[in-house]
Amino acid sequence: MPQIRLLLALAVFSMTLSSEQGMPLPRYDGKELLRPDGYREWMFVGANFGVGYGEGAGKPNFKNIFMQREAYRQFVEKGVFPDKTMLVMEVFEAGENDPFVRRGQFEGRFVGVEVALKDEGRFPEKWAYFDFANRGSGEKTKARAFPKDACWNCHNQHGAIDNVFVQFYPALRDIARK
Ligand code: HEC
Repeated sequence: MPQIRLLLALAVFSMTLSSEQGMPLPRYDGKELLRPDGYREWMFVGANFGVGYGEGAGKPNFKNIFMQREAYRQFVEKGVFPDKTMLVMEVFEAGENDPFVRRGQFEGRFVGVEVALKDEGRFPEKWAYFDFANRGSGEKTKARAFPKDACWNCHNQHGAIDNVFVQFYPALRDIARK
């Protein structure tokens, strides 16, 4: 039955299309996560300037936080972060040396991205944390998850919803309050 074969071929083709158009998924090389690309077209959930929580006093950085649009829509509908959610936080040094700028600071030199990833099948604690900044020599293309006490503990204790610092991201906290 050629018609059936044609229908099957069409069905497979459209499934391939829809999965390609779906949520960008984490890609791995063995145990390492590949740096997500294209995240500047994802949903922008919030930014901050100079928030610090570690020891020592570094210079204040700018940070922008993005997540997949598909994951964002599911958070809006159900109030939960779906499996494979990625939050990408890009970090910039504060710039001020520009002949035109009289006051204030702008997003200057790009430092790198940090990623929070929920992958329930892969990580027993569901979320894992990665840093692609390679201070000094460009960005890494792959990174390993940090041990639990380096990142996860603080996120789990102080992030408002499911390890995520929703309290600092307007596009998420305004939804969560509804
Ligand atoms: C002592 C607490 C603390 C520790 C430890 C910590 N973070 Fe965070 N993290 C924060 C806070 C607070 C924010 C909210 C945004 C900001 O202020 O930077 C945040 C936000 C993030 C985000 C944006 C998504 C989200 O979950 O809110 C990523 C990605 C991230 N951190 C990665 C890391 C990585 C990688 C490590 C380990 C090397 C780490 N963090 C360790 C407190 C912490």
